[in-house]
Amino acid sequence: MANFSFLNLLFVVLFSIAPAEGAVAAAALAPEAAIKGAYYPSWFSSGFPPSSIETSLFTHILYAFLSPSNTTYKFEVSDSTAPLLSNFIAALRQKSPPVKTLISIGGGGAGPALYATIASSASTRKLFIDSSIEVARKYGFDGLDLDWEMPENPKQMADLGLLFQEWRNAITRESKATARPPLLLTAAVYFAVDFFLSGTYRKYPVASMNQNLDWINAMCYDYHGSWDTSATGAHAAFFDPNSNISSSYGLRSWIQAGLPRKKVVMGLPLYGRTWELKDPSVHGIGAPAVGLGPGKDGVLTYSQVETFNKKNNATVQYDATTVSTYSFKGTSWVGYDDVVSTATKVGLAQALGLRGYFFWALSYDKDWRISTQASRAWIYGK
Ligand SMILES: *[C@@H]1O[C@H](CO)[C@@H](O)[C@H](O)[C@H]1NC(C)=O
Ligand SMILES: *[C@@H]1O[C@H](CO)[C@@H](O)[C@H](O)[C@H]1NC(C)=O
Ligand SMILES: *[C@@H]1O[C@H](CO)[C@@H](O)[C@H](O)[C@H]1NC(C)=O
Repeated sequence: MANFSFLNLLFVVLFSIAPAEGAVAAAALAPEAAIKGAYYPSWFSSGFPPSSIETSLFTHILYAFLSPSNTTYKFEVSDSTAPLLSNFIAALRQKSPPVKTLISIGGGGAGPALYATIASSASTRKLFIDSSIEVARKYGFDGLDLDWEMPENPKQMADLGLLFQEWRNAITRESKATARPPLLLTAAVYFAVDFFLSGTYRKYPVASMNQNLDWINAMCYDYHGSWDTSATGAHAAFFDPNSNISSSYGLRSWIQAGLPRKKVVMGLPLYGRTWELKDPSVHGIGAPAVGLGPGKDGVLTYSQVETFNKKNNATVQYDATTVSTYSFKGTSWVGYDDVVSTATKVGLAQALGLRGYFFWALSYDKDWRISTQASRAWIYGK
C-alpha cells in the first residue's frame, strides 16, 4: 500500500516537475554527480565503530566534529581524539567500495563565537586555514567541511566569504605544491540562503561560496522543535502550504540566489521530533500540543522511533502534503522521515537538479533501512 502510493507519487514527481525544470533535471541524472553523504558522530564511536559503516550506501562520510583551539585557532588534536581520527581513516580505507572522507569543523554544539572571531581577521583566518589543511593531510582525509552554526550578522557573513576565498586559495596552493588532488571544501548551512525569519537579517555570501566551495550541505530539518511546544510540526517538511519554512522553499532560495544546483546537497534527518498532544483525538500535523513527547529534548533517533512505534503499537501516518511521516499513541506524537518520505524527498531533490543528499546522522538509522532506500531512490546513482 505504502509502496504503491510512493511509486505513484514518484511518477508524478519525475514526469510533472522534471520537465518544468528543463535540461537541468536531465543533467541531474549523470551518474558520477551524485553525493550520498552522512555525518558520522565521533562520540558514538565505541558503540558504532567506523568499521561498521556500510560504504556501498554512501559516497562521502563526514567525521563530526573537530574544533580548533579558542586561543591559538589551530587544531590541537588531543591524545584522546587522535586515535579516533586515525581509526576512522584506517577503517574506511579497508572498505569496498571506497568512500571519500571529510573532517567537519564546528557543529551545533560548538557555538558561533569562535568562528566569528577566526573569520574576522586575515591573521586568524590564516592560522585556522593552514592548520585545517595540515590536520586533514596528516590523518589522510579527502576534504574539510565547515559547520559554523550560525553566522549572526551581515559582517560575519562577509567574513565567511573571505574565509572561503582564502581557504580555497590555500587548498589550491597546497595541492600544487604537493602534487596531490586538492582537498574538498564544503559547508553545512541553514536550509535557506538568508535568515528571513530572524530579527537580524543576513544572507550567505553566495558568490564566494559558488567560487570556492565544492558544494553546500543544506540543513533541511529542525523547522519545528522543542522551542515551540504549542503545536506538533513536520520538522523537515519538504512542502508547507502555510509558510516558507520548508525544504522546497529553502533549496529554491539557494538556487535563485545564484548557487548552481550541482552545488546544493539536501539534508535529511535520521531522527524525529516529539510532542505531547493536548487532545489524543486531535493528532495531525499542527495539532495543539502542551509539551514535549518522548526522548531527550523531544528528539528520538529513527531507530528509537521504530522501537517506540513497535512497542506502543503506534499509528503511523504518511503525509503527502508535507512529504513527512508521523506516528502517535495516546498523547505521544512523533514527526520524522521513514523510508517512504525519505525516498520521495530524494526523488524531489533529484527532480530539482540537486547534487545529492546527506544524513544527520549516520548512526541513527535502523539496520541501514533509510540509507538503503535513499540510495536506491537516487536513480542512476552509485
Ligand atoms: C576556551 O575553551 C575553554 C575550554 O573549552 C573554556 O574553558 C574557555 O572559557 C574558552 N575561552 C574562551 C575565550 O572562549
Ligand atoms: C514566502 O516568501 C515569498 C518571497 O520569497 C513571499 O512573497 C511570501 O509572502 C512568503 N510567504 C509566506 C507565507 O511568508
Ligand atoms: C494495534 O493497533 C491496531 C489499531 O491501530 C489494532 O487493530 C491492533 O489490535 C493493535 N494491536 C495490539 C497488539 O495492541
